[in-house]
Amino acid sequence: AAVMAGKRGALIVLEGMDRAGKTTQCKKLVQALQQSNRPADLITFPDRTTPIGQQISAYLKSDTDFEDHAVHLLFSANRWEMVPLMKRKLEQGVTLVVDRYAFSGVAFSSAKQGFSMDWCRNPEVGLPKPDLVLYLQLSPAEAALRGQFGDERYETSAFQKAVKQNFEQLLKDSSVNWQVIDASQSVEDVHKDITDRSHKAIIRAQSLPLGELWK
Ligand code: TMP
Repeated sequence: AAVMAGKRGALIVLEGMDRAGKTTQCKKLVQALQQSNRPADLITFPDRTTPIGQQISAYLKSDTDFEDHAVHLLFSANRWEMVPLMKRKLEQGVTLVVDRYAFSGVAFSSAKQGFSMDWCRNPEVGLPKPDLVLYLQLSPAEAALRGQFGDERYETSAFQKAVKQNFEQLLKDSSVNWQVIDASQSVEDVHKDITDRSHKAIIRAQSLPLGELWK
């Protein structure tokens, strides 16, 4: 007997600079989708709960040190270890809202001396490809109004400036469905913008196979 194939969920990523509101918006989006009867789950990278994620967390707090290439590969491994779960959920029709992904991996590591974007992208090649990547854009001046940097590694204005330039480079990659969101709007306006675009991406994804990133 013919069996109707279930409709897959969409893979939706939020990226952007610190204090652009990614985490707030990810949570609000998951809630809004669930309330409109679309199954949705939140995924956060780094996922600090796994053994690899705990190493990353210690590194970010400067409790441990890792060689720069090694830590890049740990961030990437932390994504790959979640891939079976992600694929299972997507196949079950669950939309995944992801707080940071391979783009943060590339933007942050390639802000370090001697790291090319190409080298940084390599371990990420073949990850599940997002159906939509929302870039929450906020000027450094506007970000500064929202408060001070935290005290984790990478939270300095010089490093963040380099990261921002790398994100702007990544935004030019037309193989990725980037959509830029004006994150200087109110929380509710940003939320509405993101929710509208996500609903469209979910409908589109239902009739498309899940892709492979940068492959
Ligand atoms: P968080 O503040 O969103 O928890 O992210 C932790 C830090 O890790 C943040 O400074 C961005 C950085 N990062 C990387 O360097 N590589 C990655 O692959 C990811 C996901 C985050």
